[in-house]
Amino acid sequence: MPQQPQVIYLKDYQVPEFLIEKTDLRFELQADATLVKARLQIRRNPQSLSKNSALVLQGDKDLVLCRVAVNDQVLAEQDYRRSEESLSINDVPDVFVLETVTEIYPDQNTALEGLYRSDGMYCTQCEAEGFRRITFYLDRPDVMSVFTTTIEADKAAYPVLLSNGNPVASGDADGDRHWVTWEDPFPKPAYLFALVAGDLAFIEDRYVTGSGREVTLQIFAAEKDLDKLDYAMISLKKSMRWDEEVYGREYDLDIYMIVAVDFFNMGAMENKGLNIFNTSCVLAHPETTTDAGFQRVEGVVAHEYFHNWSGNRVTCRDWFQLSLKEGFTVFRDAEFSADMNSRTVKRVEDVSLLRTAQFAEDAGPMAHPIRPASFIEISNFYTMTIYEKGAEVVRMIHTLLGAENFRKGSDLYFERHDGQAVTTDDFVQAMEDASGIDLSQFRLWYSQAGTPVIDVSDEYDASQQIYTLILKQRCPATPGQSEKAPFHIPVSVGLLGKSGQDMMLSNGETTQVLELKEAEQRFSFTEIEEKPIPSLLRSFSAPVKLHYGYQRDDLVFLMSHDSDGFNRWEAAQKLGVDILQELIGEYQAGNELVLDNRLTAAYRAVLTDLSLDQAMVSKVLTLPTEAYLSELSDIIDVDAIHAVREFVIKTLAEALSSELIAVYDRCNVSEKYAPDATSIARRALKNLALSYLMKTGKPEQLERALTQFQDADNMTDSMAALALVVHSPYAKAAEVILEQFYLRWKNEPLVVNQWLSVQASNPSKGALNTVKQLMQHESFNMRNPNKVRSLISGFSSLNPVNFHAMDGSGYRFLADQIIELNNLNPQIASRLVTPLTRWKRYPADRQGMMREELQRIMDSGELSRDVFEVVSKSLA
Ligand code: PHE
Ligand code: ZN
Repeated sequence: MPQQPQVIYLKDYQVPEFLIEKTDLRFELQADATLVKARLQIRRNPQSLSKNSALVLQGDKDLVLCRVAVNDQVLAEQDYRRSEESLSINDVPDVFVLETVTEIYPDQNTALEGLYRSDGMYCTQCEAEGFRRITFYLDRPDVMSVFTTTIEADKAAYPVLLSNGNPVASGDADGDRHWVTWEDPFPKPAYLFALVAGDLAFIEDRYVTGSGREVTLQIFAAEKDLDKLDYAMISLKKSMRWDEEVYGREYDLDIYMIVAVDFFNMGAMENKGLNIFNTSCVLAHPETTTDAGFQRVEGVVAHEYFHNWSGNRVTCRDWFQLSLKEGFTVFRDAEFSADMNSRTVKRVEDVSLLRTAQFAEDAGPMAHPIRPASFIEISNFYTMTIYEKGAEVVRMIHTLLGAENFRKGSDLYFERHDGQAVTTDDFVQAMEDASGIDLSQFRLWYSQAGTPVIDVSDEYDASQQIYTLILKQRCPATPGQSEKAPFHIPVSVGLLGKSGQDMMLSNGETTQVLELKEAEQRFSFTEIEEKPIPSLLRSFSAPVKLHYGYQRDDLVFLMSHDSDGFNRWEAAQKLGVDILQELIGEYQAGNELVLDNRLTAAYRAVLTDLSLDQAMVSKVLTLPTEAYLSELSDIIDVDAIHAVREFVIKTLAEALSSELIAVYDRCNVSEKYAPDATSIARRALKNLALSYLMKTGKPEQLERALTQFQDADNMTDSMAALALVVHSPYAKAAEVILEQFYLRWKNEPLVVNQWLSVQASNPSKGALNTVKQLMQHESFNMRNPNKVRSLISGFSSLNPVNFHAMDGSGYRFLADQIIELNNLNPQIASRLVTPLTRWKRYPADRQGMMREELQRIMDSGELSRDVFEVVSKSLA
């Protein structure tokens, strides 16, 4: 029986009893151990109520404490107390210097938190609570200190030594060693500390801020990746300009560094002046990176840069406030990407992710508000909810206030709280104070979990020319919250007349934001001359599920006429969902499947209309995904969903093959690769056409895919063709090109990741065996999170048919991997549990098997806090 880990509550928050004014660190990197010497200037917090409490520092159980001194007096063992997770010293003065020397073992660090080695280079990851794995400290975000860091290491093996801030001194030391001292003038919490040591190459550029300050920009990576850094540099400079223009925020240090590492638990980390990135979020080259990869680099570089203000200059008081920095920064990076590329495409992609992954999380055992009230392990709360729903909540504030007031609010927030560690409520308060708009009811979005549902009906009074929308909201129960109060929800609407034009609304515009605050509310529109078709929740103005009884013909009409680009896509999705859900019922009843030819006609119209926004065409012509159809089901029938969707794709492909071939040929232009919105749209449409054509099962379409694979000069086209062939019944052809692809790219880990993932997500029978074999392949490494994500998550989250195999083999496989990773890397292990947490959504036989595997994990021995929390909450 594993020991019950402690639950931490927001309501228990207390200000720190001590503050650290100055932190001096010295790292001596030796062959198998690192010596960390810390000199902390500590003072009692005048705001703390307890006046003579002991000093309690956090420190991981694996830290070897070599020395402790208070004001130069070395402490004897009876003067302090070591527990599993802390170091306590009684009777400390109100102001003093604490010195510690600890020994740590970065080579044995497989959890990738604290100081570890990745491919021969040292790097750190301290968010959220990794600093306590480096040395004893007040490891909480409301303790902010100025840092000076000296790194000493072997000169030949580690020529580059980096930390936060500016380099202020350097020199050689005995035994072919050298050292560098860095000074960061901005007080920061320990989670923003970073250190890097390695044999790294870099590119350098300059940026001149709006006020004329010159900033040096450097991006570091392994020598062989030097040619893959340009796009990140371009993205960084664009981000810096955008934040000046849109938020009035300038960069504040003389140097900004990014380092690429191959072993990383997350995407990237915003350490002050020294971002550390997963290679997958910074390296980009046309030959090795897909369009999606380029866009990820642009978005993540921007995200981490924007954190310099939303996260670093103004940080979080405690980890319950995580969405303060993450929700706001995701909103900021989404707007940046929208401005750089196609706004509608970006919105469609973000909403798709939210509605599948986040809505599912909000309906499951790990559901939590964007400001959680409790947690066992904070690492488990870097979630879709904190990030994506958090961003939607900030977006709603933007919608309710308008762009101008929102900017006033953000200016006030940054000015009022610069240098402070604050709460989500401080953010909302600044928005309220600057705009004069009441957000008291709106604050419920921070404390209530769950996805609200809005049922909409309407009435039209022809004699009075009044049209009325009746909105009813409810929100399902979530763990610990059975009853919910009504939310304040901005519902953006337009009304379309018969000819497809937008009607003028009472606000003098064609779109109006209805503020839904009651459980049920009526909104009337006057001078409406004919019964309109409503366009509801334009641009997805709130993270809700909205139901309105559209007829299929209404949806076809909205697909071609709605002036809101997002809702044109949404109409196509709704039409697809309606048709697919009906067919799923037929399939389950054992009836013959017949496709409603209105879908074929609507798709034909979109395929042949050259006046449409080409960036949106491939989105409109993509059927609702299996993940989205699953999320919409009460009981998920994996096989029916897959079979029906395949049937519809094949039927559409056969009916529209000449149009699809025309589109393919039109988009198949040879041009120099560029990752801009227009070329990305063209490649997306071409590859969408190819994906339909492949489903016709005609040998000439296989030829087309193989030709594209052989001729492609960029990874987008090459990968698309590879995936289509691998996921087709042409197993022989697939084997040949998989082999060819691997031989060509085996020295490019990021490409190999995709090669693994394509095989893991193959819906054909036998995928699990392939995955098991690939785990023995030379390219796989259980200690590398990118490899685990590609192969294991590629199977468990992108291959529903095989993962949910009726013999339970998929579940068993996943549980085995979780049990193994629980010791190696708890964060990654815990993330892998997600698909099993959804067990209640499946039919009884599958439920039983999934539960059994959760129980087996629970009983497998000593669990990390990370895995314990997710598994125990799932079984509760
Ligand atoms: N703070 C990082 C980001 O969102 C994410 C992260 C969290 C990275 C924890 C590492 C560890 O930008
Ligand atoms: Zn972030």
